[in-house]
Amino acid sequence: MIVRVRVEGDVVVKHGPGAELVREARKLRAYEEFAGGLFVVPRPLAVDEEAGVMRMSRLEGFVPVVAAFDASKDAPRAVASLFSRTGGVLARIHGHSEVTRRWLADALTTPVTAGHVVLHGDFGFSNVLVRLSDSTIGVIDPTPAPYVEPRDVGPPIRDLAHMTSCLLGRRGSIIRYATALRLPRRRLLEAFLDGYAAESGSVPSWDAVVEAGQEHLRTYLVRGADLPRPIASATAFVWAKTL
Ligand SMILES: Nc1ncnc2c1ncn2[C@@H]1O[C@H](COP(=O)(O)OP(=O)(O)O)[C@@H](O)[C@H]1O
Ligand SMILES: [Mg+2]
Repeated sequence: MIVRVRVEGDVVVKHGPGAELVREARKLRAYEEFAGGLFVVPRPLAVDEEAGVMRMSRLEGFVPVVAAFDASKDAPRAVASLFSRTGGVLARIHGHSEVTRRWLADALTTPVTAGHVVLHGDFGFSNVLVRLSDSTIGVIDPTPAPYVEPRDVGPPIRDLAHMTSCLLGRRGSIIRYATALRLPRRRLLEAFLDGYAAESGSVPSWDAVVEAGQEHLRTYLVRGADLPRPIASATAFVWAKTL
C-alpha cells in the first residue's frame, strides 16, 4: 500500500485506502481500551473514508524500536528487556482479540475461529516505537501488507513471524546494533518470545517461530517485491543457519 504520512504539529495525517483507514482507526481504539499502561497508541481523531484520510494524535518523542538501541549502547540487558516487553505487548493485543473484533464489527470480513486472533498485521520494527525518555512502547499501523489474505484474522504465529523476520533477517540496522552491543540476535528473539509467553501463557516452539519467520520473509520478498523498500537480497535466508 502506498501511504503517505505527514506530521502537522500534534497531529499525524495519514492517506490511504479509506476502508483500510477505517479498520486501522477502530483497531487503535480497541488497543487503547486494553493497553492498560503496557503500551500506548495514537488516538484516531477523524477518518474521511471517501477521501482516504485519517487524522490521529502524534506519539511525540518516540523512535522506532531499533533506533532505541542507540540510546542503550552499553546496556544489552536493557535492550533485551525492551524486546521482552514488546513480546508482552503483542500477547496483550492477541489476548484481547475479542475487544478488537467488537470494535471492527462489520469491517471484519473473516470470523475469528478457534485458535485464531485478530492480528496486528504489521508488527515489525517500524511500527513498534519507543519513547526515549522513559522506554514506553508505542504501537502504530495495525494494518497487514496488501498481499496478505485474510486481512485481519489468523493464528498468532503470523504476527510473531513478522517480528522474528525483523530480528533475524539481514537488515543492516539490526545487525549493526546487535553487533555493537555484542548481543546475539537470537537472544533478542528469545527475549521477545519469553515476554510473549509470560503475558499469554503460551508460545509456539522456537523451530515453528523461526520457520514462520523465514516464510514471512519469503512472502515479503516474492509478493512484496514491488513495495517501496523491499529487502534487497535473495540471500536473506542464510541467517537462520548462523543463529
Ligand atoms: N501517530 C504517530 N505518531 C508518531 N509517528 C507516527 C505516527 N504515525 C506514523 N508515524 C511515523 O510515520 C511512519 C509511517 O507511518 P505508518 O502509519 O507506519 O504508515 P506505513 O503504512 O507507511 O508504514 C511510522 O513508521 C512512524 O515513524
Ligand atoms: Mg508502518
